[in-house]
Amino acid sequence: MQMAVFSARPYDRQFLDQANQQAGLPARLLYYDAALDVHTAALAEGCQLVCVFVNDRLDAPSLRALHGHGVRAVLLRCAGYNNVDLAEAARLGLFVARVPAYSPEAVAEHTLALIMTLNRHTHRAYNRVREGNFMLDGLIGRTLHGRTVGVIGTGRIGLATARILHGLGCTVLGHDPAPSAAFAELGDVVPLTELLQRSDIVSLHCPLSEQTTHLIDDAALALMNPGAMLVNTSRGALVDTEAVIGALKSRRLGSLAIDVYEQEGPLFFQDRSGQIIEDELFARLMTFPNVLVTGHQGFLTGEALEEIAAITLANLGDFAAGRACANAVG
Ligand code: NAI
Repeated sequence: MQMAVFSARPYDRQFLDQANQQAGLPARLLYYDAALDVHTAALAEGCQLVCVFVNDRLDAPSLRALHGHGVRAVLLRCAGYNNVDLAEAARLGLFVARVPAYSPEAVAEHTLALIMTLNRHTHRAYNRVREGNFMLDGLIGRTLHGRTVGVIGTGRIGLATARILHGLGCTVLGHDPAPSAAFAELGDVVPLTELLQRSDIVSLHCPLSEQTTHLIDDAALALMNPGAMLVNTSRGALVDTEAVIGALKSRRLGSLAIDVYEQEGPLFFQDRSGQIIEDELFARLMTFPNVLVTGHQGFLTGEALEEIAAITLANLGDFAAGRACANAVG
């Protein structure tokens, strides 16, 4: 049984090879740097499975091309599956499985790192000190203890984030159409409007769907506390980037931290340091001193990678054995 692994970075190879050995499955893993789309689908010729990540495109044309090349299963090594046309996958009879939870704490801790960095300007302080500039002007932060943080999406990652912030002495508010029971011990669940109006920091942890696309748009930004911080470690398209740039320019939005970006596909997970960035919106974002961007690394801890690889191989085992898979989607 052969599996084509798309968007494969060295750490994917390391952890998947290790998990494959441990699982003892007769699976041959073929690694490709290329992201999956309709043009690269041919790389999966002769493979029954493909293994993909967040920026691989599994739209209807890609899925049809994969199916034509003999692929019968798609294994996502991530939680979100907004990049898969599930209706088309079902029509083709493709098995689709994901890794619903690996280390929610990994993403929650990265969220905290972004909040802490932006709030205390450590990204700027680091550069200043290395230049021999020990001035503190412009580095005033706010004590997080006592601040109100709004968590949108109180599932695994939202809950882990809320626990950390609660521990710091923040007042935590949540918004979720199906709030987790455990969240009630940490804070109040309120309507979105109230959360936006009351929060000093708004952190996004809901999945991307038709309903949540551009959840943070001009109207939402207008409701937010003047000077508030917006944090997105979930999916880029939850935020309308143009609206956010407008709110930063008008000084209405105090600061922005993102680990994900609406058009991250052509940029993230690659070394673009010697190239000119064509994306005008991204380039504009990089000019703000109060904007912090990381390249979709919320999941990137050794523990999470180990878990992702082990669950992906367990999903492969279910497919190979024709067993029901608890992580199947669609
Ligand atoms: P989860 O499924 O445990 O929780 C999601 C929560 O969002 C659920 O409680 C759900 O009811 C809620 N929700 C759905 N629609 C909503 C809406 N319109 N408004 C508010 N809440 C809504 O998912 P989990 O594991 O917490 O992951 C959340 C998201 O984090 C994933 O969908 C993924 O996009 C992102 N993620 C980002 C990573 C990164 O490296 N930056 C890594 C892993 C996940």
